[in-house]
Amino acid sequence: MNILKKDRPQPCFSKASNCYEASSDLQKRIGLDLINRISNDNLYSFILDIGMGTGWLTEKIGVKFPEARLFGIDFAPGMISQAQGKNIDYVLRADAQTLPFKDGFFDLIVSNCAYQWVPDLSKAFSSACRVLRGSGDFYFSCFGKSTLKELQASLESVSKDLVFRDGHWEDIDVNNIFNRLESNGFKDIEVESEVIKIKFVDMISLIRWLKVIGANQVKRNVFIGRDLLSEANAFYMKNYADGESVYASFEIIKTRARK
Ligand SMILES: C[S@@+](CC[C@H](N)C(=O)[O-])C[C@H]1O[C@@H](n2cnc3c(N)ncnc32)[C@H](O)[C@@H]1O
Repeated sequence: MNILKKDRPQPCFSKASNCYEASSDLQKRIGLDLINRISNDNLYSFILDIGMGTGWLTEKIGVKFPEARLFGIDFAPGMISQAQGKNIDYVLRADAQTLPFKDGFFDLIVSNCAYQWVPDLSKAFSSACRVLRGSGDFYFSCFGKSTLKELQASLESVSKDLVFRDGHWEDIDVNNIFNRLESNGFKDIEVESEVIKIKFVDMISLIRWLKVIGANQVKRNVFIGRDLLSEANAFYMKNYADGESVYASFEIIKTRARK
């Protein structure tokens, strides 16, 4: 049994758009680290944020590079509505795999916590490379395959068929990302991984939080069944306890490349 939603992930992100910013401390921490990795010495005229969500990071990049024209894309209509209220020059609804811009248009492309949702990463990197000018910079962070491994193991402990994540997450590690960037036109590639552990009261509160930020792909209790869910929760509490709470791992893949 696959418990992923069929219509993922766009409707989840649209529903989450209203309360996303208040609940997305982790994404903010990763996004601020991404901004800090971009050198102040560079002069950028056209910047694109891919999967910008509410546009909070796009706006901050505009503060760092005030002369640049800022473009942001996302494919969830709810996120687009939120981003339209921000100080961003162009907000467009588009898919990261088929960017609707001219060849060589941007000097800098950034993306935070979005590529793990993109089904065809080679297509997405090839599209980013096409719209980047020669020697343009590409910085992104996304979640890697060790993310939420405790949740996956707990769900599997009650049924081998329960699948929490989309299949392509399994491909997101340092080597795969490096190779895909290289084979899609990038050079001077640096990829690193960092694992962050975050505490939650229990597995159920972790799933609730994932739902609030739009990242919960698990179907409602009715499909998993309350009994199975509490069995999985007990497995989680037993194996991944941290004092009174439990922890969840998030693997952050941090990347920098040049065209
Ligand atoms: C976790 S949110 C991150 C948003 C924002 N970058 C941030 O740092 O808060 C992931 C975003 O990626 C968007 N997204 C996922 N797949 C996409 C795709 N194929 N094309 C464009 N946007 C996509 C989602 O709609 C969502 O807004």
